[in-house]
Amino acid sequence: MSRRGTRVATLSTTMSSNTHTAVLIRGDGIGPEVADAVVDVLKAAEAPVEWVERKAGVSALADGDAVLPESTIEAIQEHHVALKGPCGTPVGKGFTSVNVGLRKRLNLYGAVRPVRNLAGIPTRFDDVDLVIVRENTEGLYSGVENEVTPGVVTSTKVATEAACTRIARFAFRYANRKGREKITVLHKANIMKLTDGLFLRCAEAIHKDEYPNIALESLIIDAACMRIVQDPTRFDVLLCENLYGDIVSDLCAGLVGGLGVVPGANIGDDMAVFEAVHGSAPDIAGKNFANPLALLMSAVMMLNHLAETRGDKRCGDAAVRIKTAYDQALADGCKTRDIGGELGTDAFAAAVIERLNG
Ligand code: NAI
Repeated sequence: MSRRGTRVATLSTTMSSNTHTAVLIRGDGIGPEVADAVVDVLKAAEAPVEWVERKAGVSALADGDAVLPESTIEAIQEHHVALKGPCGTPVGKGFTSVNVGLRKRLNLYGAVRPVRNLAGIPTRFDDVDLVIVRENTEGLYSGVENEVTPGVVTSTKVATEAACTRIARFAFRYANRKGREKITVLHKANIMKLTDGLFLRCAEAIHKDEYPNIALESLIIDAACMRIVQDPTRFDVLLCENLYGDIVSDLCAGLVGGLGVVPGANIGDDMAVFEAVHGSAPDIAGKNFANPLALLMSAVMMLNHLAETRGDKRCGDAAVRIKTAYDQALADGCKTRDIGGELGTDAFAAAVIERLNG
């Protein structure tokens, strides 16, 4: 365990019981760097959170554990919330994705990824404020792949009425609660008439029967991508099946400054794991270049979730303090390299901490 990892573990055993316990998975690549920065900011903001650290990914394997250890799953089941750094997945071989596995095991069926412009990060559009809601448990991520005969392989896209209805209801409920006005379903039901057709029909049914107050439109995914890059300001909530949600998340991240500034949450009925949209960024890992903001914003989402689900105003207050501080840091020009600045991961966290008290 690193110097900072030791500090995190100590923190978890010494804080008072008047706190919320959250599981911390530092992850792989840049994960430990950005997680350390976020832990530092939450501590400085006096967020009432006590961390219990668990492993997943390559770092778990390196310790002789499973890539997704049972102890990690059990800790999230016990404490109900987690903050997770990215976990790497080998391309075209090796173990299956920890991220996909975790979402499926814990039934974290709804991914929520808010994409907004931030002060101090100039981009082509000024008023981007959209939310991607991604179905997290099926589609082409079902992992059903077969070699029919050498040179012929198949991958099965799974869509069930239960999961399509569940994510549609989740998206409408979210939109309703947050005062959002329109949901756009992204699909390819002209080609995948059964799977994407079902996804679209379930959204239409929930709209008609339960949330007629929220507008619903549908767009074929390829045309939608063009429209999003032409004018993202016309979109509000994007409802996507698993693969489209994955791709569109990165596309939308590119509109507001990149993967360093887009947070996310994976939410189920009684558990939630908060993680940035980005991956383990092996190209910059260990260099103190990574932007910790996406994970910090994910931690702010976690604090707001704790405030809402447990009625603890202190969490909401800490979330506001942290958001105000990072907005101010960005407005003052404190930025990491990915968004045109020069600060390292540590220095950006320090700049946020400096601005916590006004
Ligand atoms: P990536 O998101 O790790 O990196 C893409 C590009 O964005 C790289 O140039 C990287 O340096 C940059 N980048 C990402 N996050 C950044 C940050 N916080 N600050 C500054 N720059 C940042 O995507 P890639 O390279 O496709 O995947 C790397 C690994 O991550 C793969 O093994 C993949 O499976 C895994 N992954 C894990 C995810 C998760 O844990 N939820 C999500 C996406 C990918």
